[in-house]
Amino acid sequence: MSKIQRLNVSCIRNIQSALLEPSATINLLYGENGSGKTSVLESIHLLGTGRSFRSSKLDPLISHDDDEAIVYAELLGGLKIGLSKSRRRIHQLKLQNERQRNWESVARELPIQVLDSNSFLLLEGGPKPRRRFLDWGVFHVEHSFVNSWRRSRKAIANRNMLLKQARLDLAQLEAWDMELSTSADEVDAARRKYIDEFLPIFSQVYRSLGGANADELEITYERGWDSERQLTQVLTENRGVDCRYGATQNGPHRADLCLKLGKTNAVEILSRGQQKMLVSAMKIAQGKLLSQALDRQCIYLVDDLPSELDRANRAAVFDQLAGLGGQMFVTCVDLSAIVESLSNPPEMATFHVERGIITT
Ligand SMILES: Nc1ncnc2c1ncn2[C@@H]1O[C@H](COP(=O)(O)OP(=O)(O)O)[C@@H](O)[C@H]1O
Ligand SMILES: [Mg+2]
Repeated sequence: MSKIQRLNVSCIRNIQSALLEPSATINLLYGENGSGKTSVLESIHLLGTGRSFRSSKLDPLISHDDDEAIVYAELLGGLKIGLSKSRRRIHQLKLQNERQRNWESVARELPIQVLDSNSFLLLEGGPKPRRRFLDWGVFHVEHSFVNSWRRSRKAIANRNMLLKQARLDLAQLEAWDMELSTSADEVDAARRKYIDEFLPIFSQVYRSLGGANADELEITYERGWDSERQLTQVLTENRGVDCRYGATQNGPHRADLCLKLGKTNAVEILSRGQQKMLVSAMKIAQGKLLSQALDRQCIYLVDDLPSELDRANRAAVFDQLAGLGGQMFVTCVDLSAIVESLSNPPEMATFHVERGIITT
């Protein structure tokens, strides 16, 4: 069960030491700006993914006067996960006292979705965050995906190394082209299958949130190379370009999700608020699909909902999230801003955060 029953946080930002016994459903963290609410969400995210969601560097996360941050969680069902992270870049991740080489097993136990001001930027800019969004879903429902994905990454890295050399080693390049092509087909097939399952669920969630232009909105998956041709063929034909750039220009690392209204990118038409509802629907749909596929709910970390959505939309998103039946951690400055916006406030646990100290 992906529900945190007990959470210990030490030396993360202004939290020296905190113990939380969250509810299995909704947890509201409230307190003034800078009190440490987002840091609690960050700690959970760090434990489940190895990363923060608000900074790419980990050093700023460790409390100024300390050397090592620790997050420890016990899940409903008894599973224990512990992480220590030191300034010397040494980390130790344990699942049931067994040291983990990477986050794969822990991430499966703790599927985490974030809704914060950054995640609402999903539709803007380059494809990377959309690819990450897509792959989050594929990773959780299709277990063989991660191996194919790793093989494709390795093939691209090796291929790029060869492309940068003064004298091209054609035999080696062709061998990596083959390896990339085979793994890319697997990655593509898994992503395609996921999108086929995701789209109807998304459409239903988006409509029930009263999403704008629901009838015209179209999400399409682009695999990263010509849809009509084998990747080996594309790689061979583009060898000259790849050599010039010293990098592989086609492949699964270039995949994207395109969101369009007619011929125009949705981001150019929808208002900022409408985009937030669209992104919320995408994230809720992922949680829904996950629980259908795995009988497991993901944990939603929702940062500062009242400042992101207006009252009516906040209530709609909150209702949908609560309806998923998973565990939620929601932050806000003013508790009443959330409670008042709910039509029928469900049972929830509240935590007051003040200067890094958390009280119930
Ligand atoms: N590495 C650090 N060590 C100690 N304090 C930190 C560190 N990084 C940030 N802070 C402080 O910790 C607090 C973090 O607050 P945050 O979780 O963002 O608050 P909230 O979400 O409640 O507004 C801020 O007061 C910030 O100044
Ligand atoms: Mg905050």
